[in-house]
Amino acid sequence: MPQTVRGVIARSKGQPVELVDVVVPDPGPAESVVAVHACGVCHTDLHYREGGINDEFPFLLGHEAAGVVEAVGAGVDPAVLQPGDYVILNWRAVCGVCRACARGRPWHCFDTHNATQRMTLADGTELSPALGIGAFADKTLVHVGQCTKVDPQAPATAAGLLGCGVMAGLGAAVNTGGVTRGDSVAVIGCGGVGMAAVAGSVLAGARRVIAVDSDRRKLALARATFGATHGVDASSEDVVAAIRALTDGFGADVVIDAVGRPETYEQAFYARDLAGTVVLVGVPTPEMRLDLPLLDFFGRGGALKSSWYGDCLPSRDFPRYVDLALQGRFPLAAFVSETVGLGDVEAAFAAMHRGDVLRSVVVL
Ligand SMILES: NC(=O)c1ccc[n+]([C@@H]2O[C@H](COP(=O)([O-])OP(=O)(O)OC[C@H]3O[C@@H](n4cnc5c(N)ncnc54)[C@H](O)[C@@H]3O)[C@@H](O)[C@H]2O)c1
Ligand SMILES: [Zn+2]
Ligand SMILES: [Zn+2]
Repeated sequence: MPQTVRGVIARSKGQPVELVDVVVPDPGPAESVVAVHACGVCHTDLHYREGGINDEFPFLLGHEAAGVVEAVGAGVDPAVLQPGDYVILNWRAVCGVCRACARGRPWHCFDTHNATQRMTLADGTELSPALGIGAFADKTLVHVGQCTKVDPQAPATAAGLLGCGVMAGLGAAVNTGGVTRGDSVAVIGCGGVGMAAVAGSVLAGARRVIAVDSDRRKLALARATFGATHGVDASSEDVVAAIRALTDGFGADVVIDAVGRPETYEQAFYARDLAGTVVLVGVPTPEMRLDLPLLDFFGRGGALKSSWYGDCLPSRDFPRYVDLALQGRFPLAAFVSETVGLGDVEAAFAAMHRGDVLRSVVVL
């Protein structure tokens, strides 16, 4: 029997989100219905609402979630997934057969799985789940491969954040940027994603970790809680000059742009050392353009990379970082700034906009 639950949708571009009834079908083959326990509010949800991702409205928002499997479709091997399993939802259920998977790079999978059936509004209108998840809802329908089992001792409020923003930032540093012991790293934009890049760089043993933000509260938090060694106030300082001054005049080995605007990318580009690496993890919008001297691209050498989901492999990375968090070696719980209800997503967007939070987390 399909179930009717509460869910938060963006009905049309730029309009406030609405809490409505959502119909969740029974899981078909390779599908699973998950009771959502907590779901973080990511900037990408706001991008969806603003029409910055695509025009496939209405969206069922929410994609940074943890919960418990309620039901699986016929034929799902219980060793893979069964009711009662505690999972983090992921948006990279790898296919195993595309050209990226076939060459042993499944984190680049070009054909990731989502549920086949659609969740709908009560009138039958099909919903587009954000990043194939849609977890600002009591329950959601996903592909079995989107459920990654982790240690149930990890509270859902924090664990769910590994499902998007924290993994994206952490992986941007550790996987894409290849940050390692002794490196200098600068992170531009220390929201949930950038702060995870700070924490990931600290975890990887970076010698200098420079947090850059236009909000001084983020700089204080980066240093006090997440291990940044320095802070640069982008609202009053010359970011490139400040990063160079903190790296013996050379620039950082790895600079991570966790804002995703032409001006922050340009700062990242010039704030890295020769042969250094720039990682773009903030998501630009379609109208943005970049104009830089081609000779500088050539002459400065190094690597210019973008990072989708921190180049993570959920089955490898989620259990690993949950365990490190439970052992007190990764400050996952510190990303939870506040817990809110399902009716508070619009207010959480406003709090994000004001810079008041790293993550508001909806608890269900
Ligand atoms: N690549 C991925 O897989 C992935 C995954 C999740 C989110 N994202 C993207 O990452 C970006 C950040 O997400 P978030 O949830 O951390 O957002 P957020 O709004 O919580 O954080 C953004 C931070 O950047 C700071 N900032 C804004 N403009 C700045 C500037 N010019 N200079 C310095 N600091 C500036 C803000 O003060 C804030 O602290 C978004 O674009 C989001 O869509 C990407
Ligand atoms: Zn694949
Ligand atoms: Zn996200």
